[in-house]
Amino acid sequence: MRPIIVTDKSANPSNLAVLKFGGSVLADAQAVHAAAHEIYRYLRAGEKVLAVVSALAGETDELVSLGADIGGCENAPGASALLRLGEIRAAALLGLALERIGVDARAVDPAQINLRAAGKPDDARLCGLDHAHLTTLLARHEVLVVPGFSGILEDGQPALLGRGGTDLSAIYLGAALNAKRVRLIKDVDGLYVSDPKADPVSRRFGQINWEDAYKYCGKSIQPRALEYARQHDLRLEIAAPARGFDTCISPNGLSSHASARVKRLKVVLLGFGTVGEGVYAHLQRHQDLFEVSGILVRNATKERAEGAPEHLISDDASVVFATRPDIVVEMIGGVEAADAFILNAFFGGADVVSANKAVMAANYDSLHKAAAGAGRALRYSAAVGGGVPMLEALDQAREAGSVKNVNGVINGTANFILDRLADGCAFDVAVREAQEAGFAEADPSADLDGDDAAAKLCLMARHGFNTPLRPSQISMESLSDLDPKRVEAARNDGKVIRQVSQIKRNSKGALQASVELKTLPKDHYLAGAKGERNRLVIDMDGGDDVQLRGKGAGRWPTAEAVMADLLDIHRLRGQDEETITVCAAEPACA
Ligand code: NAP
Ligand code: HSE
Repeated sequence: MRPIIVTDKSANPSNLAVLKFGGSVLADAQAVHAAAHEIYRYLRAGEKVLAVVSALAGETDELVSLGADIGGCENAPGASALLRLGEIRAAALLGLALERIGVDARAVDPAQINLRAAGKPDDARLCGLDHAHLTTLLARHEVLVVPGFSGILEDGQPALLGRGGTDLSAIYLGAALNAKRVRLIKDVDGLYVSDPKADPVSRRFGQINWEDAYKYCGKSIQPRALEYARQHDLRLEIAAPARGFDTCISPNGLSSHASARVKRLKVVLLGFGTVGEGVYAHLQRHQDLFEVSGILVRNATKERAEGAPEHLISDDASVVFATRPDIVVEMIGGVEAADAFILNAFFGGADVVSANKAVMAANYDSLHKAAAGAGRALRYSAAVGGGVPMLEALDQAREAGSVKNVNGVINGTANFILDRLADGCAFDVAVREAQEAGFAEADPSADLDGDDAAAKLCLMARHGFNTPLRPSQISMESLSDLDPKRVEAARNDGKVIRQVSQIKRNSKGALQASVELKTLPKDHYLAGAKGERNRLVIDMDGGDDVQLRGKGAGRWPTAEAVMADLLDIHRLRGQDEETITVCAAEPACA
């Protein structure tokens, strides 16, 4: 049984993933978005994440030559203070990338957690940290981002951990926090017998024991870090981004080789609006995994943003489907056309990712049946919660026990408008602002009247309660009927109005669902959702609850969830790992 998703009330170290991003995968500033995809992957699987980052590629070398230009002693404390700046900058950039998708991340300087170092300022080891403070920060935030490569000497000066020192930072923190996994993410997809860049037929280890790891690690893991991991009996994973396979270093006596193949999957995008453009931008940075072969829009002559891939855009569905995609991503909205395109995708042998709650709620059974009949995957994480993995959390909750009820702010547009009304903004202006920001549905009455939230509740009923629920069974209260006096009264009482969506079981066990406007005290958990943000509380029958929060609408949070589904499908269809040899040690097995 998978553990229940970590609530934001408590940190559970046995559910902690420490992910280390090396400079080789942080090739430039924009690469932090790919790191964010990797973090989001573990978050939506219910793990907390502590990310440890190296400087962007080449930045440490630039700082070294900058220091040399200025002069001074090479290993003076001032040199350490300069050389650690690359990691600090990378941590801040990754924090921003996570903020863009609505993940509550905090960049933490080693000094803040008193990450102590001993030894020379340019070649120290780690020897202590403020465990209680780090644990408190982990409980408070979904993700912590720690700059690797440095610690703080007893006299308060920074010290560097030597070449490859970010490995040591990650391993040290993983051991201190008893993390579930420490994954070193590099530009090579595991440990090889010899450098795979120099030797294309080099063999990769799927699993490796410590003795062999020392032998074959070469420069890929800092030896001091490897030794520390061994002493602390840590299970280490070495992997490239987005991969479902890795080399696992573990105490197990056997090492084994595994060949791995990665292929490019052809993707067709249906829709190139708020969400579609964001997904296309992400795919452009993952051309090793995906090739966009066509984009369907309603009006191909419409003026698009500069740089739009005009050569791929068509308003003729037969043209884009003729490219024989492996995956079709549906981001057009509505029911009839979307349903027909999804069925056509299955018919053509493609997997489907959809962001469209309307079609998924209306045709849940028939679409799942069609997917199963065709043997294809159907994923729709973005349809509920935007960038907040609500359906995944409900799946995990149901696996862990029995869900009693759910309460949430699950429509970003309604929430944004309610906040703007509370600021004194006119209703029409607030609606227009939500449309301009890309939060609202093509017909914003779906957001205002509660239909959008109702469609999401239908999907939540399936995932949290394994029970069908139809929109017609859900009572709804429209924002258009909200009396301005009620907004004013709430403001005067220091309260806020929220569109609250709820599912609970009645005494006979049947589901009851509603979308209602509720006046809440400011310290209510749901009142804390600001603007387009969403929040959800899942109450379990045993008394536990699960709380989720994040951005529920907008290009980047939504594109993140779509991308997560795409990367999952890539791991399913575009990656093969095959164990080819089991051996005690090389070269006996050669
Ligand atoms: P959007 O900005 O209105 O874009 C819709 C795109 O689909 C446009 O490119 C449009 O073509 C195209 N399109 C519409 N109907 C079509 C048809 N019948 N045939 C071919 N193309 C068609 O919408 P969006 O905000 O990206 O939303 C897309 C989907 O994601 C919706 O299901 C929505 O519920 C869901 N979603 C949105 C958000 C969000 O924050 N926006 C969040 C979560 C989920 P033209 O460009 O020619 O007009
Ligand atoms: N219009 C929807 C909202 C988009 O505002 O929540 C996200 O599903």
